[in-house]
Amino acid sequence: MINPVYSASESRYESGMKYRRCGKSGIMLPEVSLGLWQNFGDTAPLTRSRDIILHAFDNGICHFDLANNYGPSYGSAESTFGQIMQSDLRPYRDEMFISTKAGWDMWPGPYGDKGSRKYLFSSLDQSLKRMKLDYVDIFYSHRYDPDTPLEETMQALVDIVRSGKALYAGISNYPREAAEFAYRYLREHDTPCLLHQLKYNILHREPEDEGLLAQADNNGSGFIVYSPLAQGVLTDRYLNGIPADSRAAKDFSLKKDSITPDMIDALKELNKIAEERGQSLAQMALAWVLKDRRVTSVIVGASSVEQLKTNMQSIRNTVFSDEEIRLIDQLTR
Ligand SMILES: NC(=O)c1ccc[n+]([C@@H]2O[C@H](COP(=O)([O-])OP(=O)(O)OC[C@H]3O[C@@H](n4cnc5c(N)ncnc54)[C@H](OP(=O)(O)O)[C@@H]3O)[C@@H](O)[C@H]2O)c1
Repeated sequence: MINPVYSASESRYESGMKYRRCGKSGIMLPEVSLGLWQNFGDTAPLTRSRDIILHAFDNGICHFDLANNYGPSYGSAESTFGQIMQSDLRPYRDEMFISTKAGWDMWPGPYGDKGSRKYLFSSLDQSLKRMKLDYVDIFYSHRYDPDTPLEETMQALVDIVRSGKALYAGISNYPREAAEFAYRYLREHDTPCLLHQLKYNILHREPEDEGLLAQADNNGSGFIVYSPLAQGVLTDRYLNGIPADSRAAKDFSLKKDSITPDMIDALKELNKIAEERGQSLAQMALAWVLKDRRVTSVIVGASSVEQLKTNMQSIRNTVFSDEEIRLIDQLTR
């Protein structure tokens, strides 16, 4: 145990964090949530992971987003989170909204991937063990699986909620037609979809362009955004090249060759607009997503407490003038 005497800040709900209602549900989520995709696995220092998670909780971030395969290695972000639950956060469980997901490859063979009832049930059991939890607040189908009847995937979500292992169900990365089916099926089985989780940022507009944001709203579902900083591209990280300790340097989920000279030029121009707003580029990018009230929350990744601190300040100004919108669109559309 690193520090057995953690006591959460008494002012955690007075630090300026704001909360938005999640669709037509009883749940409120912080405008900024913390995601554990890449920086909390067994290759990351446990003390740093703990510092980031506890800093989040001490400042009103009560929603933590996980999935079975977050790490690296797979499963290890959930194990890290379980360690911190046990050593520090257990007394605060009822103040926390914790998610996990299954849908991408997790273990070998035909039952460790995609959308079968068999995979979803066994994966959630494994996740609960790693996170040392009795239940998660929301369990997601992590992606649409065209090879499994959607009724099977959705009924698994319904039954998982009925079993008490998750309080709510959600979908992630669903195309429009499959999402429409999911919303209807879940609603008709008394388990309304709480959230659709999708990638959305200044550089990636599909949810808006393809009507997925409007669709969630029309179906009474919340909408939660991942990679709001385009994995760090929409920050000052790459304005002068690719730092050795950055995600792009790892050349895995964010490819080095996506940081082109043209991209850097556009980022520099975006940075000027941010400066005029009195924000860093990261803060403006998060504010840009949050300007749409149909967005419930942005899930940020952070590799340091400093990054998280910066990101939390974004919510101070989420209003954009028509001219700012026009300039941003001109640079990125
Ligand atoms: N449902 C899905 O399919 C799905 C997919 C992807 C992600 N997600 C969820 O969404 C979460 C966020 O995704 P993401 O990590 O791609 O989000 P992101 O916030 O767009 O990118 C996070 C990265 O940006 C950099 N960064 C963050 N704040 C910064 C700042 N203030 N200044 C400079 N750099 C900064 C860091 O990069 P460095 O590491 O280089 O420092 C950090 O690792 C994940 O953790 C996960 O929970 C879900």
